[in-house]
Amino acid sequence: MARHLITSALPYINGIKHLGNMVGSMLPADVYSRYLRQRGHDVLYICATDEHGTPAELAAKEQGLPVDEFCAQAHDAQKAVYDGFALAFDYFGRSSSSQNVEITQHFARKLNENGFIEERAIRQVYSPTDGRFLPDRYVEGTCPHCGYDKARGDQCENCTRVLDPTDLINPRSAISGSTDLEVRETKHLFLLQSKLQHEVEAWVARHEADWPQLASSIARKWLNEGLHDRAITRDLDWGVPVPADTWPELAAEGKVFYVWFDAPIEYIGATKEWADQDPENRDWKSWWYDADDTVRYTEFMAKDNVPFHTVMFPATELGVREPWKKVDYVKAFNWLTYYGGKFSTSQKRGVFTDQALDILPADYWRYFLIANAPESDDSSFTWEHFTATVNKDLADTLGNFVNRVLSFSKKRFGEEVPAGGEPGEAEARLGEEIARLLSEYEEQMEALQFRKAAAALRALWSAGNSYLEEKAPWLEIKTDKDGAALTLRTAMNLIHLYAVVSEPFIPATSAAMRQAFSLTDDTASWVSQDEAKSLPSVPAGTPFTVPPVLFAKLTDEDLAAYKERFGGEHA
Ligand code: MF3
Ligand code: ZN
Repeated sequence: MARHLITSALPYINGIKHLGNMVGSMLPADVYSRYLRQRGHDVLYICATDEHGTPAELAAKEQGLPVDEFCAQAHDAQKAVYDGFALAFDYFGRSSSSQNVEITQHFARKLNENGFIEERAIRQVYSPTDGRFLPDRYVEGTCPHCGYDKARGDQCENCTRVLDPTDLINPRSAISGSTDLEVRETKHLFLLQSKLQHEVEAWVARHEADWPQLASSIARKWLNEGLHDRAITRDLDWGVPVPADTWPELAAEGKVFYVWFDAPIEYIGATKEWADQDPENRDWKSWWYDADDTVRYTEFMAKDNVPFHTVMFPATELGVREPWKKVDYVKAFNWLTYYGGKFSTSQKRGVFTDQALDILPADYWRYFLIANAPESDDSSFTWEHFTATVNKDLADTLGNFVNRVLSFSKKRFGEEVPAGGEPGEAEARLGEEIARLLSEYEEQMEALQFRKAAAALRALWSAGNSYLEEKAPWLEIKTDKDGAALTLRTAMNLIHLYAVVSEPFIPATSAAMRQAFSLTDDTASWVSQDEAKSLPSVPAGTPFTVPPVLFAKLTDEDLAAYKERFGGEHA
């Protein structure tokens, strides 16, 4: 059985992420990892905060903190939210770790030895007031094309034209507002991606047929436009230092690698962090090095990240000329919108992950988000849709089934799973249906089709409701007590099966459902086709308890309050 390496795009350190970020990377990666673990696969799910770059420096400055302290705090704050969402990372690292520094510098040395790095002098805007070179987007001024006075040095937001900072009229520093700017010549390292174009093309060609269309079409588009050499160093205080043994002059000037150079390498770095904190995990390198025959590597990300993962990072890995594992499958997502408009961190539009957990437990969000993941297209979050889905699928179809069956059985038969009755035609039909839906669910999960997997899971829950309506044990009990016992026992076995197969989506609720039964040796390990047909896991006589209501029904008042708090307006 292949080992599964799974990563989700590293969330940038700056700020708590919104629901759109969550559904486009970490949450589906967690669902998939949980599913594979339950099926007995060896899984390593790695993520980390992406900590370098100017935005981190500026945010630290705004909070009056040294940047390393800012990052340490922001990392912990993000980690707390991900724990709240029950994301079961094997390790959640930090791209500023010493392990990432070491591996990033190693990659750079190798690329250099292999002739893929070149030093080039470039002209850059320097601000004496700020004491630093300014990245393009931190130079602001008037657009020479449309006259917009807040155009950025990389692009004019008003007319969308791409700019060079030296194009701007009356340029000023976006950091201090200073207009005392000069252009200075400075040396940087360039990654000669153009030399790797053919190799990357060949590599993509070998893989793209397996990738979903969203990923392969974006990769193609980038390759067709041609890979350009790009600067991989910056003049910043915060980043992976350029190694002094190889580039003494640049190192002395304090150059660091560009954040997009070291961030994907942190997938490897975080794996080493994972190993270094626990001697049990010493074989970290076997996940990454010479691992083509033993590891299947799946990456999760939103579509804006696809070029970096399908073209740029593979180019880096190819240029290193060492057998580092490259991605096998790229699962990319479109955007989740908020009432059709953009989630916006700066405009505080939409729902942030910490706020979501303030309102309702993680399972409500996990289920809703995955069931409506922006897979084939963008999808829109609305409070109307959210509350309706929670009420229908989680409260009515699943939660109510569990409570109804267990409370009724307790009332009529006491606190053990009732004995009596022989499975008949209705149970046989139910078993066939459950087995069929289970294999549909498995198929969609294996194909990483999350919406369809959620639909199959929902259908499994519905099948229990149909069975219960058909058998109507509350009537049956009046004339055929054994028959009612059989029905309830069958339904309780369904509850246990639901607990197992729903675990990737709603882990906390699943645990509560499983723990309703006092089984010796109960595990969440997967259900076979035979078990789906015969439902044997909870035998008569098993003690059980009735768990508290699993999912609260959301009222019209709740809906109004959410809309009031977050703004439920169409964009
Ligand atoms: N931090 C980036 C973003 O938020 C993603 C980095 S993914 C990595 O878009 F692979 F580069 F780490
Ligand atoms: Zn303009």
